[in-house]
Amino acid sequence: MNQFRKDFPILQGNDTIYFDNAATTQRPACVMEAMTEFNNTCNANPLRGLYTWSIQATDAYEQARHEAAELIHAKKDCEVIFTRNTTESLNLVAYSYGLSHVKAGDEIVLSVIEHHSNILPWQMVARQTGAKLVYMEPDQEGTLTKEEIERKITDKAAIVAIGHVSNVLGVTNPVKEICEAAHRHGAVCVVDGAQSTPHIPVDVQEIGCDFFAFSGHKLLGPMGIGGLYGRLEILEEMPPFLTGGEMIEYVTRESATFAEVPEKFEAGTVNASGAVGLGAAIRYLKRVGFDTVQETEKKLTRRLMEGLAGIPEVTVYGSKDPEKHCGIVTFNIEGCHPHDVASVLDTEHICIRAGHHCAQPLMQFLGVNATARASLYFYNTEEEVDRFVAAVGKVRGWLGY
Ligand code: ALA
Repeated sequence: MNQFRKDFPILQGNDTIYFDNAATTQRPACVMEAMTEFNNTCNANPLRGLYTWSIQATDAYEQARHEAAELIHAKKDCEVIFTRNTTESLNLVAYSYGLSHVKAGDEIVLSVIEHHSNILPWQMVARQTGAKLVYMEPDQEGTLTKEEIERKITDKAAIVAIGHVSNVLGVTNPVKEICEAAHRHGAVCVVDGAQSTPHIPVDVQEIGCDFFAFSGHKLLGPMGIGGLYGRLEILEEMPPFLTGGEMIEYVTRESATFAEVPEKFEAGTVNASGAVGLGAAIRYLKRVGFDTVQETEKKLTRRLMEGLAGIPEVTVYGSKDPEKHCGIVTFNIEGCHPHDVASVLDTEHICIRAGHHCAQPLMQFLGVNATARASLYFYNTEEEVDRFVAAVGKVRGWLGY
């Protein structure tokens, strides 16, 4: 039995197989307990009160920032801005840095495998500035080759925006090499870390990125809290994204000066209990350890892919090597719409995602409208994988083929 399952209340007393971890992960009890403690002992508006509860709330909020900064190895805590999620983090970069730095004729370089969250903000910047979007094309396994990176990132690039791990293929992109190429050509590099942060140790200094976005709910934390890492020198010269309360230094009738980083980018009342929950999630994840996370995922992914390989009507997308999937296995069953596959598996108490996974350019590249996707995490088990494979083997029969 997996030793971690007992820590997750939702996994107790039922036979549900939760294989939709790329969409959101489950929360260990310690996350809910940390949030409850915050709410029951010091719930007050942080960063502005001069009384004890507010000061304690500020301390708890800043401690969470410290945990997040440590997780991704930021040089300074203030380089982590709390946002709602990865999408908001990427929009912050696009609206603040993008609109103030990108000019007509510049290029914004992306890849075909990006999540829509790392495409649409750049489409907006391109529309508003007259810049051009350039897409790096992966090979059939979803890998970006050195040649493609060198071909597409040129002196015209102003921004290179790249997913660390694909939410569909699970492939890990060579983000360090991509950042190096971006910097060699005078561009900044934005990394979408939504799918990497929960699974692999992230070191933003080692990667060398200028920005790195992540979500709390994909790494055992609550929904509604995420983060954006930015290099301090860049954050300091960027204009604010949202304006209003708490992000100012001084306001007159006509104008304002702004607070220091990170407050400059955290307008309005913050999600303090969410941040506290995220801090607890990070502490828990560190106790589990990334070695355990990766070992378990690799073992389960191998078993899952070997099981699916035994079903002739199943096509699995991406690399043949289970170690290159980061726990994500995307597939189709011949003749079956992925929505039907997910619905029929739900009757067996199996949760997977089906559809375009917010990655329609990648679906077009793969030549499909949609796929089914099983995504694993360290609290899943071999028994679940076996039940899942057996159920997938019966789907065509259940659907009347
Ligand atoms: N981005 C999340 C997913 O891929 C929601 O499922």
